[in-house]
Amino acid sequence: MHKINLILLGPPGAGKGTQADRISEIYGIPHISTGDIFRENLKKGSELGLRAKEYMDRGELVPDEVVIGIVHDRLAEPDCERGFVLDGFPRTVAQADALKEMLAGTGRGIDHVLNIRVPDEVVVERLTARRTCRACGAIYHLVFNPPKEEGRCDSCGGELYVRDDDREETVRARLEEYEAKTQPLIAYYRGEGLLRDIEGDADMEAVLANIRKVLG
Ligand code: AP5
Ligand code: MG
Ligand code: ZN
Repeated sequence: MHKINLILLGPPGAGKGTQADRISEIYGIPHISTGDIFRENLKKGSELGLRAKEYMDRGELVPDEVVIGIVHDRLAEPDCERGFVLDGFPRTVAQADALKEMLAGTGRGIDHVLNIRVPDEVVVERLTARRTCRACGAIYHLVFNPPKEEGRCDSCGGELYVRDDDREETVRARLEEYEAKTQPLIAYYRGEGLLRDIEGDADMEAVLANIRKVLG
């Protein structure tokens, strides 16, 4: 299978993690979520995890130099030779520039930036009823994608919990941070001819179908 390098862009709750899991399965490429990496580090109690949590709990972005170093190391792992789907990175122009530099030596840049579009009201509805598996990170929704057994992960049996940053006031702060710092990447990647708009306010299968149309 040929190599494919993807970025998923979109506000909190757009469905980046949900779609990235599916893309990863279908195309056989690793799903790299910076948010998941921070949450895993927090679970282990590492210094990185504790440092990131301060920002995450306020709905703010973690400083660029921290995030860039992590992604740089992750992309150097051998499984990324098949390609990758980046979820939640880049989120600032500085991160996008750094990514371009990281890929410059590899002979293969980004193929598509999938910009998942959903209105703010939908974001709040999705995040306030999201449940996340503490063990494997699988994503559920009490109404739109409920687990078979309440409070338990279908795939690993792990405990489902509510992310600390999914409280409504934190969600609002995350949306503001998105508008101020991440939205400029839409113009950035449109300028590079890489942006593909995806209608995200539809059921999960319909969103996946829209993505597959773009990827071919
Ligand atoms: P991160 O974990 O990346 O959070 P986010 O970007 O805010 O996005 P979410 O994970 O909340 O949403 P999602 O788009 O993945 O949606 P999901 O698929 O879960 O980042 C968290 C924090 O880490 C940041 O605030 C920041 O502090 C820090 N951070 C991370 N990366 C960083 C970076 N690069 N730079 C600096 N700081 C960084 O879906 C949401 C819900 O909706 C689920 O319940 C799901 O089941 C449901 N759902 C999904 N699709 C549909 C659908 N089509 N219809 C109905 N329901 C749906
Ligand atoms: Mg996510
Ligand atoms: Zn699980």
